[in-house]
Amino acid sequence: MQEANRKFDIRKAPFLKEMMETTQHMWRFGWDERNGGNISRLLTEDEVAPFVDLQQTPRILQLPFPVAELAGRYFIVTGSGKYFKNVKDNPEDTLGLIRVQEDGASIEIWWGLANGGQPTSELAAHFMSHMARLKVDANHRVIMHNHATNIIAMTFTHELDEKSFTKALWQMCTECIVVFPDGIGVLPWMVPGTKQIGEETARKMAEHRLVVWPHHGIFGSGSSMDEAFGLIETAEKAATIYTLIHSHRSGVKQTISDRELSELAQAFGVTPRQGILQLEN
Ligand code: 13P
Ligand code: ZN
Repeated sequence: MQEANRKFDIRKAPFLKEMMETTQHMWRFGWDERNGGNISRLLTEDEVAPFVDLQQTPRILQLPFPVAELAGRYFIVTGSGKYFKNVKDNPEDTLGLIRVQEDGASIEIWWGLANGGQPTSELAAHFMSHMARLKVDANHRVIMHNHATNIIAMTFTHELDEKSFTKALWQMCTECIVVFPDGIGVLPWMVPGTKQIGEETARKMAEHRLVVWPHHGIFGSGSSMDEAFGLIETAEKAATIYTLIHSHRSGVKQTISDRELSELAQAFGVTPRQGILQLEN
């Protein structure tokens, strides 16, 4: 028994360490109060096999939505109702190592989610967003959701038009247009945890790596945990500045102009999403 444990020590897996550290950072940023937020990271069998006994019999859970395109794929995911604050000290209870079965209609739980836990209630949005991002980026790996405070605040004070929302963020910090030239998708308010919000999020993910859920939070994606985290971090920083300056009595005196944003994009070799900047000839 001890021998088997030593052979499959998931605590040594880089992907587990990364989930434990990332959830802790997100909680400390105040983005993941209570059980708020969820993460899923795609893994290959080669990444998993040294750390998990794949000869055991996994627990099976039916999915209420089929994801045939993800058949055979492994993910490390956060559990539903689990506090990000606690992941670091209790990963077995708060995280799960899952695999989508061949028919795409159910998942196998190979490790974690101890005590009968379930994967995040936003699994539909995660799985469907993974499918959408993999279609446009073969290196895609991570979907991250959280309740970033100032992004949520901005969904009360700014109109929910995604072009003007994107431009407002681009204008707040010089680096924003460089970090997310693809802009930010914005959904209407919807009930979370449903197949429908999953489908709508994935539809936006086909064109943007960031999607805002008004009065709720944000979804970010990336080829690594750092990339997904950094995208959300940058958008949240811009939203913080937006909220700070709009609560100031004297208001905004100047901003980065569309012409300047265009020059910035040129200098950094990125192509801003069409239809946002208005450039007179
Ligand atoms: P879970 O605890 O099920 O992941 O839900 C948290 C959340 O943020 C819902 O949108
Ligand atoms: Zn949420």
